[in-house]
Amino acid sequence: MPQDTLTITDNRTGQSYNLPITDGTIRAMDLRKIKTKPDDFGLMTYDPAFTNTASCRSAITYIDGDRGILRYRGYPIEVLAEHCTYLEVAYLILFGELPTASQLKTWVHEITHHTMLNESTKKFMEGFRHDAHPMAMLVSTVAALASMYPEARQVHDHENRLLQIKRLIGKMPSIAAMSYRHSVGFPYVYPDNDLTYPENFMNMLWKMVEPKYVANPAIARAIDILFILHADHEQNCSTNAMRCVGSSEADPYLSTAAAAAALSGPLHGGANEEVLRMLDEIGSKENVHAYIRKIKEGKGKLMGFGHRVYKNYDPRAKIIKWTADRVFEVTGHNAKLEIALELERIALEDDYFVQRKLYPNVDFYSGIIYQAMGFKPEMFTVLFAIPRTIGWLAQWQEMLSDPEQKIARPRQIWVGHDTREFVPIEKREKQQPATV
Ligand code: SDX
Repeated sequence: MPQDTLTITDNRTGQSYNLPITDGTIRAMDLRKIKTKPDDFGLMTYDPAFTNTASCRSAITYIDGDRGILRYRGYPIEVLAEHCTYLEVAYLILFGELPTASQLKTWVHEITHHTMLNESTKKFMEGFRHDAHPMAMLVSTVAALASMYPEARQVHDHENRLLQIKRLIGKMPSIAAMSYRHSVGFPYVYPDNDLTYPENFMNMLWKMVEPKYVANPAIARAIDILFILHADHEQNCSTNAMRCVGSSEADPYLSTAAAAAALSGPLHGGANEEVLRMLDEIGSKENVHAYIRKIKEGKGKLMGFGHRVYKNYDPRAKIIKWTADRVFEVTGHNAKLEIALELERIALEDDYFVQRKLYPNVDFYSGIIYQAMGFKPEMFTVLFAIPRTIGWLAQWQEMLSDPEQKIARPRQIWVGHDTREFVPIEKREKQQPATV
């Protein structure tokens, strides 16, 4: 019997089956041959939240949760964060290779010349309330871009696909900055093509009446590193949304909007905003013990802690902590950091968290840095969505190019009623409605 097979005996029938094992998996469809009678549907797997289900083959990002490893196209995140710019890493994630100097120059030029938004976007933005959440504005505006570029629906036209990808990478910071400027009632600032990607983002956020914005280099580099750390993360919730929506051949703008919507949840990219609210609620180092007691009683979660994959530490958190020190050298000391460090120190020694393998994740420190840079918590997930756009698009492209992929359509276990007799409305009695 070849070693790379799994022998399953169905005790309902006594029949045995040999299933091939490929890349550490069995194909779920191979289970369908396990039946009790010829017209039986066959076995399925049941895996809510896909905790143990591979949905695709990917060569973009590799994570080893036990060893705290994160690599983009084989390069360790630590090396990329130290030596590259975000656009250089975006090129790597999309095309699979680090660019030469001339390739990078062309790539930066092309992205830079896609930072402008159609002027009608300003009118679109005006429709939001003054206190609209920037993530709601970003998701809606990215979706609205589908109306600007109807040719984006030709998702199998490679040249057209690449053009939309460049547009999205170029325009994300512009949309994000407009969402911020709208929320504070400031006039929008147009892109400045003389500036780098992070510097131009800062320009569109923070330029006031000075003739030309001059970015603080330490803050610009910190933003670039944070963008690199957030660029992709294999099959996370928002990437799963991107692949699922994209599998119906929806255009990349609507698929990216769906992915950003998934990211906005507090268990995913919205966690960095919740970390700041948690630190505000704790208020001081002295209150940390009482707060942890509350979490251990099951009253809430320690936001910024835990991860579905990383069960030792999130390698990005270590780099973010180093970046935080560089930012605080510019912005001055941050009292929230003291509370965060005390929270981390106590949690890492407490059995409740150690047993559940709960360590700080990427969101734990990113929120503190963004707050020190002057961002409001509502902007934090927007700052996550900007860099993650290249990850979503690279995964979307990989899905479209994968001959095994088709429209996503999971199955279900039926737990509802069997066939019921219809009751005319005049004969119906009040029923206990299902809890909504
Ligand atoms: C991101 O997937 C990705 O890669 C995401 C991401 C990316 O780059 O795309 O890395 C970005 O989303 C990071 C995660 C940000 N979210 C948070 O910080 C929110 C707080 N964390 C949790 O909600 C939670 O840890 C998750 C959602 C991140 C992971 O949840 P899992 O893997 O489904 O784990 P679980 O909910 O099954 O928890 C296992 C146990 C449970 O306790 P018991 O029921 O066994 O007693 O751990 C507990 C949970 O209650 N637990 C926590 C906790 N996280 C899990 N208890 C307190 N505080 C927490 N943060």
